[in-house]
Amino acid sequence: MQRRPEPELMDTAEQAIAYARADFRDSNNLFIRLLEQHWPDSGAAKRNGCTAIDLGCGPADIVLRFLRAWPQAHCTAVDGSAAMLAEAQHLLDATPELQPRAQLVQATLPDPSLGQQCFDLILSNSLLHHLHQPEGLWHSVRQLGRPGAFVLIMDLLRPPEPSWVEALVKTYAAGEPEVLCNDFRHSLRAAFEPAEVQAQLRAAELDGALDVHVVSDRHLAVWGQLPA
Ligand SMILES: C[S@@+](CC[C@H](N)C(=O)[O-])C[C@H]1O[C@@H](n2cnc3c(N)ncnc32)[C@H](O)[C@@H]1O
Repeated sequence: MQRRPEPELMDTAEQAIAYARADFRDSNNLFIRLLEQHWPDSGAAKRNGCTAIDLGCGPADIVLRFLRAWPQAHCTAVDGSAAMLAEAQHLLDATPELQPRAQLVQATLPDPSLGQQCFDLILSNSLLHHLHQPEGLWHSVRQLGRPGAFVLIMDLLRPPEPSWVEALVKTYAAGEPEVLCNDFRHSLRAAFEPAEVQAQLRAAELDGALDVHVVSDRHLAVWGQLPA
């Protein structure tokens, strides 16, 4: 099935509110589990802290899960959509104990003003498929990660046929509002296949450092450490 890109930013209030209210517990827990399992410095970061950045943070559910699981960590949460960041701010307002360790930043990636090689950990979930120029994500990873930084990028993977798209929408978005079913449908069609992500890593000269894995019936994940 051919890739059909969707708009980059989720910048209508309707879209952001529907997304923030949706239940992404399964995939967001999977993301945190992958981080626990594969990040070699996970234990040290729990004791001593670290600096993380979440690219395309949306309503920041993963940021909050991360800050709860790594109680000394700080996280910069970046999104280009003011509507999404407003949802993230609501969530942060409801968790004042985490606020001092989270910073919301509105920026459209790639953005050189976010810093140079200053983060220990680069996180991103469900951003890659939004990008019209996916090399922008890999450029940002290189720009923002310090030497040896750990990278975890998770996203949907594009099914081979339209009928698979409909089966996945039926399985995982049944009962959700129409706007969300359509988002999920469009996202699956806009997602990349694992081989395409592998080619992106080769083009960015990150293929020796980061690997692509299929981690569920609808997700792929890329993880590894930047060269020291
Ligand atoms: C599907 S949401 C994922 C949100 C969140 N990471 C999560 O897992 O729930 C994708 C987010 O990426 C943001 N986004 C898309 N393209 C972007 C870009 N070039 N720069 C910054 N944010 C972007 C969108 O506005 C949206 O909030």
